[in-house]
Amino acid sequence: MKISHIDMARLQKEIDDLALISENPPPVVTRVLFSEADLRARQFVKTICREAGLMLREDEIGNIFARWEGTEPQAPAVATGSHIDAIPNAGKYDGVVGVLGAIEAIRALRRDGFQPRKSIELIIFTAEEPTRFGIGCLGSRWMAGTLPPAKLAGLRDRDGNTLEFWRNRAGLRPVNAPSHYAAFVELHIEQGPILEQRGLAIGVVEKIAAPSSLRARLEGAGGHAGGVLMPGRRDALLAGAEIALAVEKTALESGSPDMVATTGVFQIEPDAVNSVPCRATLEIDLRDTGLAARDAALRQIESAATEICRRRRVGLEFQVINADPPAVCAGDLVDLVAEVCRELQLSFTKMISRAYHDSLFMALLTPTTMIFIPCRGGVSHRPDEYSSQAQIQNGVAVLAETLRRLAR
Ligand code: GLV
Ligand code: MN
Ligand code: MN
Repeated sequence: MKISHIDMARLQKEIDDLALISENPPPVVTRVLFSEADLRARQFVKTICREAGLMLREDEIGNIFARWEGTEPQAPAVATGSHIDAIPNAGKYDGVVGVLGAIEAIRALRRDGFQPRKSIELIIFTAEEPTRFGIGCLGSRWMAGTLPPAKLAGLRDRDGNTLEFWRNRAGLRPVNAPSHYAAFVELHIEQGPILEQRGLAIGVVEKIAAPSSLRARLEGAGGHAGGVLMPGRRDALLAGAEIALAVEKTALESGSPDMVATTGVFQIEPDAVNSVPCRATLEIDLRDTGLAARDAALRQIESAATEICRRRRVGLEFQVINADPPAVCAGDLVDLVAEVCRELQLSFTKMISRAYHDSLFMALLTPTTMIFIPCRGGVSHRPDEYSSQAQIQNGVAVLAETLRRLAR
């Protein structure tokens, strides 16, 4: 596979067209799970898959599978894929490069006259992003068997709607044809600055950091902003603010350079200027490459929140939404991608993924690795997220050649 065999003009047009399917005007991309935009984006991608001659199926959680049947259809398939949902105020490359890029990789292999022995299967995962239900990687968790049905049934979005509600509304038509896989390789933008800073074309992922997310619901006492005197107050926002600062302090003082902690959601009620906030909801994202450090920080945040709420006489409901272990990628697969980079004369490094991906859960099912390409300034989860056509083309070429070697 030559890099120039990748039809980058066509792929860029598809990336640009998909970006226009959004809940917000360009350049902002927002596609929350099962929103109108997400449903239209699914149709858009399915159409491109059909045009590429791929066979489509869908499972009960809305994962989409697009298959290029090999000459040995019973053999475990070689899988690739990523997601097309996007957090609020996102850009157009996160996830999308790994979906539309994989379709172009398949088209390029076809143009080259390649006929796979093992089937090649593209997976478009449901809800890699946690926006609707507070938990990410729903589709890959489900496939890996780490999402018990009871937990799934208990998921609620901010309006109290269940996954079942959204599934019915989306009219999913599951076809139960489970696949088993020989390998999974996900192409993705780095979402960090390392490749760009070091002037490298490709990152081959060896490990994915351990993510977790927490929710704290605070119940204080509201009242008239003029009438309730300061000493008697049980202000839920102030308790939440102290918790958010404790979250930051936990990461800063952990001694682990890899620990990151973010309070990304902070909602208050009644949200009126002349009313003492009576309720607050915080959602906290906490990650580290090491499981022990991450878990210690998790306990520390919970005990800080407990102390703060006791002192402020505010009720606390603390919930760990997910606390996943890190993933270790398959050494053979990492080496294979590295070999492909050498053959294509692309500079590369082996690296850690600090963002999480569906690969975190696919690694529980099958040997897995990821191919990273640089993105400008390391920026992601923002509308100005950007990777150049040359950078994307390199990544797609590496993916195509890797799929060829795995499937032949
Ligand atoms: C994925 O989007 C993540 O938050 O790492
Ligand atoms: Mn993302
Ligand atoms: Mn992503």
